[in-house]
Amino acid sequence: MSVTWALPFDQKINPKLNLNRLVSITTYKEIHSQTVKDYKQFWASVASEIDWFKPWEKTLDDSNPPFYKWFVGGELNASYLTVDRHVKSWRKNKVAIIWEGEPVDEKGNPKEVRKLTYYDLYREVNRVAYLLKEKYGLKKGDAIAIYLPMIPELPIFMLAAARIGVVFTVVFSGFSADALASRINDAEAKLLITADGGWRRGKVVDLKGIVDKALEKTPTIKDVIVVRRIGNKVNMVEGRDKYFDEVIKDIPQNVYVEPERMKSEDPLYILYTSGTTGKPKGIVHDIGGYMTLLHATMKWVFDIRDDDIYWCTADIGWVTGHSYIVFGPLMEGATEIMYEGALDYPQPDRWVSIIERYGITILYTSPTAIRSFMKYGDNWVKAHITSTVRLMHSVGEPINPEAWEWLWKLVGREEVPFGSTWWMTETGGILISHLPGLYLVPMKPGTNGPPILGIEPDVVNEDGKQVNLEERGYLVIKNPWPGMPLTIYKDPERYVKVYWSRFPGMFYVGDYAVKDKDGYFWILGRADEVIKVAGHRLGTYELESALIEHPAVAEAAVIGVPDPVKGEVPYAFVILRQGYTPNTQLSQEILKTVRDKVGPIATIDKIFFVGKLPKTRSGKIMRRVVRAVATRAEVGDITTLEDEASVEEIKKALEEFK
Ligand code: PRX
Repeated sequence: MSVTWALPFDQKINPKLNLNRLVSITTYKEIHSQTVKDYKQFWASVASEIDWFKPWEKTLDDSNPPFYKWFVGGELNASYLTVDRHVKSWRKNKVAIIWEGEPVDEKGNPKEVRKLTYYDLYREVNRVAYLLKEKYGLKKGDAIAIYLPMIPELPIFMLAAARIGVVFTVVFSGFSADALASRINDAEAKLLITADGGWRRGKVVDLKGIVDKALEKTPTIKDVIVVRRIGNKVNMVEGRDKYFDEVIKDIPQNVYVEPERMKSEDPLYILYTSGTTGKPKGIVHDIGGYMTLLHATMKWVFDIRDDDIYWCTADIGWVTGHSYIVFGPLMEGATEIMYEGALDYPQPDRWVSIIERYGITILYTSPTAIRSFMKYGDNWVKAHITSTVRLMHSVGEPINPEAWEWLWKLVGREEVPFGSTWWMTETGGILISHLPGLYLVPMKPGTNGPPILGIEPDVVNEDGKQVNLEERGYLVIKNPWPGMPLTIYKDPERYVKVYWSRFPGMFYVGDYAVKDKDGYFWILGRADEVIKVAGHRLGTYELESALIEHPAVAEAAVIGVPDPVKGEVPYAFVILRQGYTPNTQLSQEILKTVRDKVGPIATIDKIFFVGKLPKTRSGKIMRRVVRAVATRAEVGDITTLEDEASVEEIKKALEEFK
């Protein structure tokens, strides 16, 4: 099914949206191919739309592939672009962030709403930059870690660090002490910013307790700043931990910290993400290329304007929040919503009540969220006014057509542009998406749409050869793009190996995809050992490593199986050590070990005890075979299997579970 843009939707909703934007796919393809042919020149023209302290001399340094450098010689600052620029314009007292806390009163209204104008944000960012620089002695090139819930201090600390050239790594607040410690240690962070807790579904998450455990094994952390969010009593370590309100109170409101003149290819942040094997990789993003891609996509994909109320429902702990809550919308001077808690708390209509309360015009959410809303039924949605919404996108995992149609009909009134933007931590920003801010081409439920301008993705087979249209293959990106990683932190060889070695000269994404006859991409899911649980990226390796830390577990294989709401959920197949017998209590204990090691987001859905796991003759676990059995798919070629009885074991375990 293909849905053409309903006419004249923009006259009703958005008089400014020009119908001249309606183009045929053929026209889009022609425009696109021009931008790809001259991609350096094309991206240079986009980059010239943002403010540089000093213009670049070379658009792309490709002398040492795959370590590409964009806009070499150029100087800029991400904090300048997101705050100072607006303060110098009429946007000075425009609202930047409307923050809504999770707790509600008896009537169901939010207990706390904070509105920060661009000028408020500017002053706070300057004060925190001053604090970091003058009181904590941090300087350009140092690293800090941020482990905060969704409160305004999170973007403020990120922007303050960016202002003084301090590299930050944000750790999602659903990660455990071990996960936090390993990221701090890899980044060699000197300072950690956390809170006395966070609200999640009406409960307090004890962030400070997790931090204290993590810091038992992080020698580089000298200081901790604790933001008071809950107001409860937490353990404060003398000489190390200080409350944010106490350290900031003497810093004047009008302090100004000169933004560092950063090189385009200097690092902005490190964000850890799961891969096929080994510990999470620290993806390093630059400044010039990254900010250029965000500027472009905010305009093209989100059609962002000054009268919009934009809401991205992600958590800033993931890349979506970095790019499309913090740097992208603020660079464009948008007014955005930042919501602290669960989208269905205390009732399933929390998300729609937010749309209604602020008159959201642009909604960026995830398939998992949509599917969970669907489950609650239409009436929760119909009880609220959502007709302000003029554009929607989804991200994080493939969107099933049913979920797409449900939201498009109910909130999108069968007329608003609604896409599924494909990208990943590594790409920095959206690379495959409809571009309603530029061109309107037909939508198709479930597709990711055509590539954005200047980007050349393709679908290839095992040998790196382009597959036929409608045929499944591996997604690759054929040209360097602004926003691409600089490297994997402290592990450039791994960067080359993981992304650039499988198909020489092409960036290997790790997703299966299909390209249809119109040139639209359909990303089908991961082709490797990464699973996406509710859109969160988890490596089976991390889960397996956590499982075998339990003394009863000898070996473990984790696979992702389809789930109607979360997209995928992890199943664990475990071989017990001698002397242990399977029972419910042991299952619970093992599951708890995984939650403790990785974090509450790493909840294994089901655990199965088996005597054998399918392995190759060289001893590698064949997860593909486990997955095929568990999902009743074709098991495929098992000639390399060491012992066929292992397949029966898996089947038996699945049957017995029911
Ligand atoms: O499998 C793809 C899936 O999410 C992966 C990247 O995960 P992460 O780095 O956590 O970034 C998520 C948010 C940008 C990809 O390899 N993915 C992301 N967006 C989509 C998607 N799959 C299908 N459709 C999407 N729109």
